Amino acid sequence: MKAKSPSESRVEMTELVLPNHTNALGTIFGGQLMAWIDTAAAVCSFRHCRNQCVTASMDALHFISPVKMGEIVILQASVNYTGKTSMEIGVKVTTENPLTGEKKHTASAYLTFVAVNEKGHPVPVPPVLPHTEQEKRWNMEAKKRRAVRIGG
Ligand SMILES: CC(C)(COP(=O)(O)OP(=O)(O)OC[C@H]1O[C@@H](n2cnc3c(N)ncnc32)[C@H](O)[C@@H]1OP(=O)(O)O)[C@@H](O)C(=O)NCCC(=O)NCCS
Repeated sequence: MKAKSPSESRVEMTELVLPNHTNALGTIFGGQLMAWIDTAAAVCSFRHCRNQCVTASMDALHFISPVKMGEIVILQASVNYTGKTSMEIGVKVTTENPLTGEKKHTASAYLTFVAVNEKGHPVPVPPVLPHTEQEKRWNMEAKKRRAVRIGG
């Protein structure tokens, strides 16, 4: 299977925080942000594999700063590492103030997606081939996380 660069599947998704996304304090529901993170990662997995993929896990997720109604949320997803049938996808969440343009790092998440056939059985994924220094660092860090995650 031909190796693919992370740049071939990278996703940037932009959302606007509306009243139906927020709680009584006017800040976003954590679950809403998790849904957007899952969607960005899913699109990234489809672009990498051109195959159906399912979420196997999401590592611990920490919300570093609150996201307010009216703010812009930018989700950047890329494939950090591939195993035989699984991929680690990293999603960085940044919040942008629509009036000043000020940006804040809001959360980072690491998800494992598995490519599956029509019966839901895992199938091989194309290996990811990191090119840039940053991609190589993300790949090494993801390899360590995978070892902790699955004990391998
Ligand atoms: C994900 C799923 C397909 C894995 O099936 P499985 O029979 O356990 O597969 P295997 O044990 O052969 O593992 C397949 C790969 O998934 C990885 N994997 C399985 N469970 C995992 C988990 N909880 N976290 C991270 N990786 C996991 C394995 O490490 C393996 O990776 P590799 O091939 O790159 O080495 C299966 O558990 C499933 O269908 N889960 C439900 C997925 C779903 O519906 N998600 C939507 C939200 S509910």
